[in-house]
Amino acid sequence: MRYGHFDDKQREYVITRPDTPLPWINYLGSQDYFGLISNTAGGYSFYRDARLRRLTRYRYNHAPLDVGGRYIYLRDRDSKEFWSPSWQPTRHAAEHYTCRHGLGYTIIGSTYQGIEAETTYFVPPGQSLEVWRLRLTNRRPKPARLSVFSSVEFCLWEAQDDSTNFQRNFSTGQVEVVDGVIYHKTEYRERRDHFAYFACSEKLAGFDTQREAFLGPYGGWERPAAVVKGRSQNSVAHGWAPIGSHHVRLSLKPGETREIIFLLGYHENPPDQKFDPPDSQTINKRTVGPLIERYLSPAAVAQALTALRAEWDKRLAVLQVRTPDPDTNRMLNIWNAYQNNVTFNMSRSASYFESGIGRGMGFRDSNQDLLGFVHMLPERARERLLDLAATQMESGGAYHQYQPLTKRGNFDVGSNFNDDPLWLIVATSAYVKETSDWEVLDEPVPYDNKPGSEQPLYEHLQRSLRYTLDRLGPHGLPLIGRADWNDCLNLNAFTTTPGESFQTTVNKDGKVAESIFIAGLFALAADELAGLAAARGAKAQAAEYLAAAARMSRVVDEHGWDGQWFLRAYDDAGAKVGSRECAEGQIFIEPQGICIMAGMGLADGRAEQALAAVRERLATPHGVLLQQPAYSRYYLNLGEISSYPPGYKENASVFCHTNPWVMIAEARAGHGDQAHDYYRRINPSAREKLSDVHRCEPYVYAQTIAGRDAATHGEAKNSWLTGTAAWNYVAISQWILGIRAGLHGLEIDPVIPANWDGFEATRRYRGGVYHIRVRNPQHTGHGVKQLTVDGQPVEGASVPVLKGEHEVEVVLG
Ligand code: BGC
Ligand code: NOJ
Repeated sequence: MRYGHFDDKQREYVITRPDTPLPWINYLGSQDYFGLISNTAGGYSFYRDARLRRLTRYRYNHAPLDVGGRYIYLRDRDSKEFWSPSWQPTRHAAEHYTCRHGLGYTIIGSTYQGIEAETTYFVPPGQSLEVWRLRLTNRRPKPARLSVFSSVEFCLWEAQDDSTNFQRNFSTGQVEVVDGVIYHKTEYRERRDHFAYFACSEKLAGFDTQREAFLGPYGGWERPAAVVKGRSQNSVAHGWAPIGSHHVRLSLKPGETREIIFLLGYHENPPDQKFDPPDSQTINKRTVGPLIERYLSPAAVAQALTALRAEWDKRLAVLQVRTPDPDTNRMLNIWNAYQNNVTFNMSRSASYFESGIGRGMGFRDSNQDLLGFVHMLPERARERLLDLAATQMESGGAYHQYQPLTKRGNFDVGSNFNDDPLWLIVATSAYVKETSDWEVLDEPVPYDNKPGSEQPLYEHLQRSLRYTLDRLGPHGLPLIGRADWNDCLNLNAFTTTPGESFQTTVNKDGKVAESIFIAGLFALAADELAGLAAARGAKAQAAEYLAAAARMSRVVDEHGWDGQWFLRAYDDAGAKVGSRECAEGQIFIEPQGICIMAGMGLADGRAEQALAAVRERLATPHGVLLQQPAYSRYYLNLGEISSYPPGYKENASVFCHTNPWVMIAEARAGHGDQAHDYYRRINPSAREKLSDVHRCEPYVYAQTIAGRDAATHGEAKNSWLTGTAAWNYVAISQWILGIRAGLHGLEIDPVIPANWDGFEATRRYRGGVYHIRVRNPQHTGHGVKQLTVDGQPVEGASVPVLKGEHEVEVVLG
């Protein structure tokens, strides 16, 4: 069953009924100001940091679902009926409802008793404000007299404190209302120099800023007293819960349309110009005034929307493909690329499953997110790389995450995840391959943000490798530390305390537990660094890194191979994890993917064996499981992985992030059909028809799909913020379609389904535009037989770097 449909031309997903299985959301903003918005106008906004600078309040895990948002109420002044044109919070059944989630904007429209309402929500590029453009049309045969109420609930900035510290917070709230603009200025009087504002383009019939005045005693958002009565209280909040609500009265002739603009924004004043007059406690509004005036004009709003579209045209134009599979095209050309922008911006901080409080920017997460983003906005990727590297420690280790507002590493999610540093190499290499910005490697970057500790980025990468080599275990494999990519494989934790966080609890300084996953990642990263070193002329270093990768492969041969697949780990007692010798958890997906990606087993048949085992033991119609058999009980020596019921999350769900690794491995082994088949199993667009089972948004990847052992096999959770986005993009574009940036040019080496006749693509790369046509006349699906650029044959599978537009033809066979 479907709840809507794709509109590929508009690049929108159109939801046609409001009661989706879960809130289906979108993101607004792409630089400093961000918002989450659901298909029924739920969600919240923040400036840079969802925890530290939250503008509006949201109630997670509320019943009914999705409470707190950008709500508008309409009231018919004659019949006294009222309703929400976004369905929530009043949930009146509209005659017609649509929500169009587009790239950086959402349009929610409905018609109720002949009153058509359409609200477009978006953040103008480069601005720290969001626009709500409401268009009202009277479809009745007679005039309509209406009241419009807007509403937002302000958050007192620090989202964690806001939801817990009521003894203080119920006394601090402050607002100003001047010329119809509501200013939220809690704590502005003391150490903050920022405030929020909520403005309206129309003359007001009233306003409210105190929540209980607007909602009424014991009132809820589904029935605010002001809306029921059709009258605002003109309340001014002193403490309690500051909100913003405008009341506009208007009359519409039959067929008449009116446009009302609301602005919700964030503004900072220079510390010495906070107040006006200077010795007062009144916000200086001269700095923000012109901005408000500008965006309250319909022309400026229309212009900003056009600019937003143009921005996305440009971003997406870097890679566009036309393959025989519409789900591939749609995801790659539109939604996957879009999601990559969101994961790049949010890391794992703010979604409908991540509260914006628990996590900042993850070190390994952001490095991987960059892989799917770097071609679209390389300048921002560069900045991110340097920020990440600045949170690396002198030991080469890394803070597991940092706070976006301060860019400082924090220990909120522990540290000593021994895979972390290696991802910096993978990300930096991808950036250099995309841009040929070799200078970035010489950029001085501090350790742990300490002034004076600056070393070239290249040195950081070298330390990343050394970090692994300094921490080898009894078999010569990398020690796992707190955990590797699989945060829940906690081989040094041994926790028995209920509720204790596996991520932050004190770990044994383990010198035994080893990870084959890190071994594979190390070999991959060492190869990448060798490539960078060689290109910089550091031949000896390049040779050293290649030798280190080869040594690690030999150790994996010897101690990391289980006979039919790659082992996962050795635990603290030296016992195997992910082995046929285990009672449960005999085979894990991660080492099969990453080791083959690093080239292990490709020459001697082990890769084929491992992939066959994956097909046989882990593949399901809903994707490839993380491990099998699922852990049926808690294992002290394994940690959080066994804390999940079988089939969920790391305990044997389809943990989607890992699936593209197997797709890449299949592609590297030359199996285009299998690679693309796995790709389609988790492709959200291909799963759209299963929306009742899948339940999450059909336009973005989710982190996890319940596995075969779960009661709800096929049900997705944790949509949006997942490394799946970047990696699936990499798998389909770089390894299946085979178009990938190399150090010295664009490589084109497809491994596609045999029955495809070919495909076309346009790739912008280092100042050139390549129109690529791949033909598959023999239906081999792979093997570049002939490559021509503008009709001229080229040796190998790499197109040289050229300016201007070029026709590239690739013949497989
Ligand atoms: C989740 C992991 C996640 C970790 C991060 C765990 O509870 O299962 O997927 O990586 O938390 O803190
Ligand atoms: C989600 C985390 O954000 C990521 O860092 C981790 O690798 C996966 N879960 C697997 O545990």
